[in-house]
Amino acid sequence: MHATNEPLRIEEVELAPPGRGEASVRIQATGVCHSDWNAIVGDSIVPLPSILGHEGAGIVEEVGEGVEGIAAGDHVVLSWMPSCGHCFYCRRGRPNLCEAALPGFFAGTLFDGAIRLSQDGKPVYHYSFLSTFAERAVVPAASCIPIRRDVPLEVAAIVGCAVMTGVGAAVNRARVEAGSVAVVFGAGGVGLSVVLGCRLAGARAIVAVDPVASKRKLALELGATHAVDPPGEDAADVARELTDGRGADYAFVAAGVPSLFLDAYTATRRAGTVVCIGLPREGTEVSFPATALVREEKILTGSLYGTCRDREDMPELLDLYMAGRLDLDRLITRTYPLGQINEAFADMNSGEVARGVLDLRDGAR
Ligand SMILES: NC(=O)c1ccc[n+]([C@@H]2O[C@H](COP(=O)([O-])OP(=O)(O)OC[C@H]3O[C@@H](n4cnc5c(N)ncnc54)[C@H](O)[C@@H]3O)[C@@H](O)[C@H]2O)c1
Ligand SMILES: [Zn+2]
Ligand SMILES: [Zn+2]
Repeated sequence: MHATNEPLRIEEVELAPPGRGEASVRIQATGVCHSDWNAIVGDSIVPLPSILGHEGAGIVEEVGEGVEGIAAGDHVVLSWMPSCGHCFYCRRGRPNLCEAALPGFFAGTLFDGAIRLSQDGKPVYHYSFLSTFAERAVVPAASCIPIRRDVPLEVAAIVGCAVMTGVGAAVNRARVEAGSVAVVFGAGGVGLSVVLGCRLAGARAIVAVDPVASKRKLALELGATHAVDPPGEDAADVARELTDGRGADYAFVAAGVPSLFLDAYTATRRAGTVVCIGLPREGTEVSFPATALVREEKILTGSLYGTCRDREDMPELLDLYMAGRLDLDRLITRTYPLGQINEAFADMNSGEVARGVLDLRDGAR
């Protein structure tokens, strides 16, 4: 990516060997996420030029100095929020909020400002520590989450963002209780994963909201019990019908549409939980009724990366998949070669796919 609002270009760049605490990975599969699209259109700001892509899996090629616990040949899911293990948040079991990772995340570098990508002697920035839209990547060793070898790597790839983010929002952040009622706004890769997470947790009703008919159909197939077509149909009405007029126990915002934050708030009952996952344009503000917030004791929270502990949660999700408890095959609607990356984004935006995945096993083209 050289500039906003332009198609991505496939070009040759130089990749330096992994430095201390880093590893090089041969990318095998990488999903196309709406967060990459936010960068392409300038809704989120990234340093340019950059190689996007943050939902990937691959095989470790080489490890840098001082790296323990992973070795060449290991299959890994790549975590876009690696953690240092010893900052304030890491010590409190919240590695997705790692203080040491945050500067690199926004600066387009690895830890400590390192940049391993270049083109004609000029730096090319990393994206979310990973830059998976490429045949190879140098990433922090902490981004390499070793996984079992019998998992298809395209499935592992989507666990690297959409699945962890969505299932984790339901299971880790909301802690959805068995028998509860949940509303999920947006049925893309992330929202459908929220549906899977709510189902896993034993929700009795899951209301999926999406203007695209094929997304509503897929949500119903994956475990949603009701589907709502906005703006004509109102999710809050459906939630109230299901709960003697009270409203949903949980509502999730899984699209970056600002108005959905209040819609989700309205759809929940008193003391219900609203989990915001979707990322609107940087700088967007939303309002809530202040006195109602106090009187109704609703819990309003964000969730980053499914509030995950990546090293524990991602292998667990893959175990659930292998045990037949998490239908991730259905999430991958289509695979593309890297050369069709712009088509993959177009299909995501038209609602054509639940998740599009780039297959890099035979290289870039
Ligand atoms: N919090 C995190 O850690 C995190 C991680 C990944 C993605 N995200 C964000 O989550 C959001 C979803 O990502 P995705 O990859 O699933 O996107 P996607 O484009 O695949 O899916 C978005 C879905 O929302 C639907 N939608 C659009 N307008 C809607 C409306 N008014 N009401 C209901 N549904 C509507 C679309 O039809 C689509 O199905 C994005 O904003 C993305 O940036 C956040
Ligand atoms: Zn993502
Ligand atoms: Zn940390």
